[in-house]
Amino acid sequence: MKLTFIGTGYVGLVSGVCFSEIGNQVTCVDKDLAKIERLKQGEVPIYEPGLQELIEKNTGIGNLKFTSDLTTSVQEADVVFICVGTPSLPSGEANLEYVEQVAQDIALAMNGYKIVVTKSTVPVGTNDKIKAIVSQLSPHPFDVVSIPEFLREGSAVKDTLRPDRIIIGTSSERAAATLTELHKPLTDEIMITEVRSAEMIKYASNAFLATKISFINEIANICEKVGADVTNVAKGMGYDKRIGSSFLQAGIGYGGSCFPKDTNALIQIAGNVDYEFKLLKSVVEVNNDQRFNIISKLNHSLGNLQGKTIGIWGLAFKPNTDDVREAPALDIIKTLLKEGAVVKAYDPIATANFRQFFSNEGDVEWCESAMETAESCDALCLLTDWAEFKEVDLQHLNGIMKQPVLIDGRNVYSRDQLAETTFQYYSIGRPE
Ligand code: UGA
Repeated sequence: MKLTFIGTGYVGLVSGVCFSEIGNQVTCVDKDLAKIERLKQGEVPIYEPGLQELIEKNTGIGNLKFTSDLTTSVQEADVVFICVGTPSLPSGEANLEYVEQVAQDIALAMNGYKIVVTKSTVPVGTNDKIKAIVSQLSPHPFDVVSIPEFLREGSAVKDTLRPDRIIIGTSSERAAATLTELHKPLTDEIMITEVRSAEMIKYASNAFLATKISFINEIANICEKVGADVTNVAKGMGYDKRIGSSFLQAGIGYGGSCFPKDTNALIQIAGNVDYEFKLLKSVVEVNNDQRFNIISKLNHSLGNLQGKTIGIWGLAFKPNTDDVREAPALDIIKTLLKEGAVVKAYDPIATANFRQFFSNEGDVEWCESAMETAESCDALCLLTDWAEFKEVDLQHLNGIMKQPVLIDGRNVYSRDQLAETTFQYYSIGRPE
């Protein structure tokens, strides 16, 4: 099929590339000319395992191209995907300005029947608004369909090529048949439902996963006080198929561009229809507090942090990505600086993105390696569970620090691994 993806962010770029990989003719469109030029040169703007190779392969065989010419690419396509951002407004609500603008652009470009698919995460009712915009501006027949995206950063290619399910929100049999055909090579789990349910499935799924994380983090906080080990508690809970073992890893809370944005948006969506989503409000509050456990543990171990040197391992909101949006590391480092600590920080790939948050470059010492960061520190805090940190020589690490205080915000190490060291070791929800 001929497909056009508008917006070359995470969702648009990865989806476009993956659909070209399964044999479709794909055009990725963006109004950012510089970004399109870079993509044409084979430069990938995001770090995502496997993506670069697929781009090279599919541009090479002519299945994939990049352009800023929206009109031509809409006219050539059977299906047009809207994949532009829906950032948070100060109220927490999703900003639909870009989605609505693209809907207008598509309507003005149309030259015959088109299926317009919304992949951007949009509040319930948005696809009906898009339908109204297109029908006002275009004389041509069309269908607007919601197909929410469930890919995770860091495993986006794999998630897109092998999704758990595809949700197709439409009441049009014609669109449903075409889109089922398109997605069949990816999975057998295809669910056709109403547009508004599809929109809600996306928010409900992210909100539920965020709830699991905040739930296990609160259990962890209680475990610390009653002498239980949250890792074993989560494992024991996970054997129950109704609960499941995933997303029960306690730590310093969720970050990223999706959970914080989508949980706040769903609270707003509920509020707009006079419903107070009390549970989700607590999930957000628990998450915002959880990161400060690192500071409490530092205070508990070192007392006043004034003049103490604190090493930070991990700045990205999770491993295998250079994305630092809503990363807990930001609040933690800002608090350390406020308390007068000297901060040394390192991330395998996200440092460049993270540094942009600091107008005064000298505030933090940005290090080139994990060991350089730890050298002469009074305490070391692990904030992102990169594989690299799991494999370090702990005895060597023990020897190079000023004080052997290790705060493991992601429960990466086991007691056994630390047996030969003199570390004062603190983790999340496990006995000291
Ligand atoms: C999330 C969802 O998992 C995707 O299904 C969804 O498509 C995406 O948002 C989106 O809406 O676009 P993502 O934000 O890439 O994906 O990352 P996750 O792997 O879900 O991790 C989110 C955060 O939760 C990370 O900060 C991670 O460290 C944290 N987390 C995750 C935990 O603290 N504990 C866990 O057990 C799992």
